[in-house]
Amino acid sequence: MKIITSASQASTDIAKLQASGKTIGLVPTLGGLHKGHQLLMQRSSEENDITVISIFLNPMQFRKKQFLEYPSDFEQDKLIAQKTNVSMIFHPSVKEMYPDITEMDDFFKYQTDFKRRDEKNFVIEDNIIHVASNLVYHLDGKIHPWVFDGSTTIVSKLFKVLHPNRAYFGEKDFQQLAILTKMAAIYFPKIKVLGVPTLRDADGLAFSSRNVLLSDTQRQSALCVCHALQSAENMIKTGETEAKIVLDTIIKTISPLVKIDYIDIINKKTLEPITKISDDIVLYVAFFLNEIRLTETVIVSIHNS
Ligand code: PAF
Repeated sequence: MKIITSASQASTDIAKLQASGKTIGLVPTLGGLHKGHQLLMQRSSEENDITVISIFLNPMQFRKKQFLEYPSDFEQDKLIAQKTNVSMIFHPSVKEMYPDITEMDDFFKYQTDFKRRDEKNFVIEDNIIHVASNLVYHLDGKIHPWVFDGSTTIVSKLFKVLHPNRAYFGEKDFQQLAILTKMAAIYFPKIKVLGVPTLRDADGLAFSSRNVLLSDTQRQSALCVCHALQSAENMIKTGETEAKIVLDTIIKTISPLVKIDYIDIINKKTLEPITKISDDIVLYVAFFLNEIRLTETVIVSIHNS
């Protein structure tokens, strides 16, 4: 397994592999690898000759405190990647990916600065992608739209460097997946963006890098959110069509230790909040356990039930 920090080296190596007929699958990550990432890597290695992962803690999609506290351990990540058929880890520095930014604090200023956002189109200014309002202002993108500018900007940079045939993302970050699919269709039509269903631990909690920060009690509270969404899914599958009733039931069931940051039910295709459930939907909750922010996503297919 190769570990490459230079963007030009990674591009050259990948171009050589593609020239010899190999297909490349990319799994972009922030580090802090867990079994959910392993599932993405496995899927990539089933569908491509070579699997490349990127490990880059992208400052542009974090608040400063969350960025500094992000649980990552590169040595541990290397072991996980090695076990999962990964041929190359692209592990660039911040300078390599953002050569124009001189101060780390400039990333964190972006969050409050006014930026031009078009209603329907992505806008690229100073090498930063501002996601269209009609894609970004949904779910908790209403609270922190800049997170999606950050993830779209870095994924576009990774696509330029690594030009994979396929790229894999978790369905857990449903809005991110929808935005990246659109971004790739416009700027990288040859790259296929694929969503992979959420992997859950034996107790039902979705794998997330932040789970390692949870105490036992906090894990129980997080599970309570997961169970509330599962019950909501059952309510819908057994005929409940009023989104408000489903949302109220979820809120009532969730433990008082959980502080809900955002909760909604949206149409899976349009990402718009709904009042009547008649099509495939996404149940989404972002919540805090003390300072740890987690999200839960359940996709409910109405027509296959
Ligand atoms: O979902 C993530 O892990 C990140 O947002 C991504 C796609 C690796 C971009 O930094």
